[in-house]
Amino acid sequence: MKKPNLAIVGATGLVGSTFLEVLEELDFPFDNLYLMASAKSAGKVIHFKGKDYVVEELNEHSFDKDIDIALFSAGGDTSKKYAPIAAAHGVTVVDNSSAWRMDPEVPLVVPEVNPQDIAWNKGIIANPNCSTIQAMVPLKPLHDKYKIKRVVYTTFQAVSGSGLKGIEDLKQGLEGNDRCVAYPHPIAGNCLPHIDVFTENGYTKEEMKMVNETKKILGDDSIQVTATTVRVPVFSCHSESINLEFEKPYELEDVKEILSKAPGLHLVDDPENNEYPLARDVAGKNDVYVGRVRRDFSAENALNIWVVADNIRKGAATNTVQIAQLLLNEEK
Ligand code: A2P
Repeated sequence: MKKPNLAIVGATGLVGSTFLEVLEELDFPFDNLYLMASAKSAGKVIHFKGKDYVVEELNEHSFDKDIDIALFSAGGDTSKKYAPIAAAHGVTVVDNSSAWRMDPEVPLVVPEVNPQDIAWNKGIIANPNCSTIQAMVPLKPLHDKYKIKRVVYTTFQAVSGSGLKGIEDLKQGLEGNDRCVAYPHPIAGNCLPHIDVFTENGYTKEEMKMVNETKKILGDDSIQVTATTVRVPVFSCHSESINLEFEKPYELEDVKEILSKAPGLHLVDDPENNEYPLARDVAGKNDVYVGRVRRDFSAENALNIWVVADNIRKGAATNTVQIAQLLLNEEK
């Protein structure tokens, strides 16, 4: 591909603005860049890589221009409506919303895990849910070696996953004002076992995303997955306790060796010196961090791990930009 023309849909949002940071950090090549958002932001100027860009209102004609790749993070409804319009104009959309993730015609991609799946895209590629992405990076190499039978996720998710309103609820809560705009209860001093809406089976949508997306990304419907997702009073980074049962027996040292060599993953596991991945250390980083790697002695071939990543970076913007990088390489 020549240097692509890029569009960012939702450029004024938390994830959209992080797209710009990551594009710059990864030195992503592009020719023209178009920044799009709602009517509210039209005309706003965003300075990027030494140039001023004027934000345009997204509309049905936004993709009449010569655009090669569009990174979307403007909510599910916007993606449902505009991603097909973009794709019909020959644009490849990488979409950060949940709108297309479980569509069988749409690849759901974590570049370290299933980069090959971009080959069958029909104009839309989905970026998985933030809590699923960070789990896939350690699970993939372990699944390849020992075949995962069952996964139990328990997540501790940052308020930045709810956008600026979640951050504001926590900020004000820490100052003694129990603002409840993003959540049904105060988040400061609390743990809310409730992310996204409840579904008929008693799980939340967030939990069901982890269940369904794990199977799709690993390409294995036989894996049994359950999840409890919890919002915690942390600004950045999701932390996850993951319990795994394998079909095959394993040696703990082999597991650590595999995790220490896996792409996009860092093993931080020295409990004697109080070293394990922590949200405050991982904030702002693009990779995934794993520690507390230990045998679960309560079941056969079972393992516990602790996984931390920046939900706005690897959980959203970084993974999306990395998918766009795969598109560049594919065309070379
Ligand atoms: P705007 O800032 O103009 O409202 P966040 O996830 O941080 O809330 O950001 C959402 C992003 O999606 C923002 O850039 C927002 O633009 C954009 N957005 C929301 N609704 C629409 C829409 N209907 N059309 C285009 N962009 C939208």
